[in-house]
Amino acid sequence: MNATVQRQLPLGPTDNPHQAAQAQLRPEKNHAHVRFINLGKTYEGQQGPVAALQNIDLDIQRGEVFGIIGRSGAGKSSLIRTINRLEQPSSGRVLIDQLDIGEYDEDALVKLRRRIGMIFQHFNLMSAKTVWQNVELPLKVAGVPKEQRQRKVAELLELVGLQDKHKAYPAQLSGGQKQRVGIARALVHDPAILLCDEATSALDPETTQSILGLLREINQRLGLTIILITHEMAVIREICDRVVVLEQGRVVEQGPVWQVFGDPQHQVSKTLLAPLQHGLPEDLQARLQAHPQNPDAAVVLDLQFSGAGNSEPDLSALFGAFGGKVSLLHGGVERIQGHALGHLLLSIAHSPLSLEELLARARKQAQHAKVLGYVV
Ligand SMILES: Nc1ncnc2c1ncn2[C@@H]1O[C@H](COP(=O)(O)OP(=O)(O)O)[C@@H](O)[C@H]1O
Ligand SMILES: [Mg+2]
Repeated sequence: MNATVQRQLPLGPTDNPHQAAQAQLRPEKNHAHVRFINLGKTYEGQQGPVAALQNIDLDIQRGEVFGIIGRSGAGKSSLIRTINRLEQPSSGRVLIDQLDIGEYDEDALVKLRRRIGMIFQHFNLMSAKTVWQNVELPLKVAGVPKEQRQRKVAELLELVGLQDKHKAYPAQLSGGQKQRVGIARALVHDPAILLCDEATSALDPETTQSILGLLREINQRLGLTIILITHEMAVIREICDRVVVLEQGRVVEQGPVWQVFGDPQHQVSKTLLAPLQHGLPEDLQARLQAHPQNPDAAVVLDLQFSGAGNSEPDLSALFGAFGGKVSLLHGGVERIQGHALGHLLLSIAHSPLSLEELLARARKQAQHAKVLGYVV
């Protein structure tokens, strides 16, 4: 709770009229920042109506980094775009700071959109304008006086590390630098929410890391709520606090990242997260038998640690409990949000215990344990 409260503290100049307006609107602490209530969206497609979102009920908390994942066409972009009403819901409501934005008139919508920054996969910069002009443009459009504009642009270019590039044109920048301009531009009105639709998808892994680092910094220093769509599961694991999985316009799973990643429940989540799980190495797969061929055959156990326990698996206790000769075949443990998640493949030979007893002992430490087969 305290962390959330601290993250709300705004930095930067206090003489900004938008910020003053925001401060007046700032509600009680414990309400969801963004709340979807029974939200639905149906498009008129060429082959008839397309139900892109159905019965979405979801809360996004102030100051969190919230991830949205799902297969292509699941409704992720449609959902995020209802937050600044780039998409109009067909049914249900979107509340921001407890206010139903469906009731906003044009004027209120313009103000709302200034409080919600957005960045995109393809950056959407103006190619004929310099970095400085790209960031300055929305301030000009909003009628912000020149001196104030200059202060703001300089401050933001420094925040995103592009002070030296203010005279460059987008074509002279790398992908990561372009996205930094996109981020600076999205922050000109001191938004409370930043929407990111596949914002790192066009970037190489190293640049992705640096942009994620910047987003984390913005989240913590400026207290922004960040809502992020990505098909890169590693991005979610890196910076999100909670994640929701959409499938055919519905929420199929949601929770803290460590929980959903450690023990995905829905088939779609399992499939999406499969690339992050450690599979069985090919040579081992080839040697694996369904039944023990002789008394020396070792049983292969697959143990999964979903992070539900608060400590690392105690391997000496685990191995000791099995009896016999235990070998580690494959696997590892990683930490997400302070939880130890992992996957171990063990072979156990000459154990005096029955298979049931082995599994029972394995499950004292691992959340999931199953027999994969036998190897000689
Ligand atoms: N403007 C539109 N007109 C008709 N159908 C659309 C439109 N936008 C999206 N859709 C459809 O709605 C569904 C969800 O799309 P979208 O929200 O873009 O999914 P995602 O971002 O998860 O890939 C898809 O079936 C898509 O084809
Ligand atoms: Mg999309």
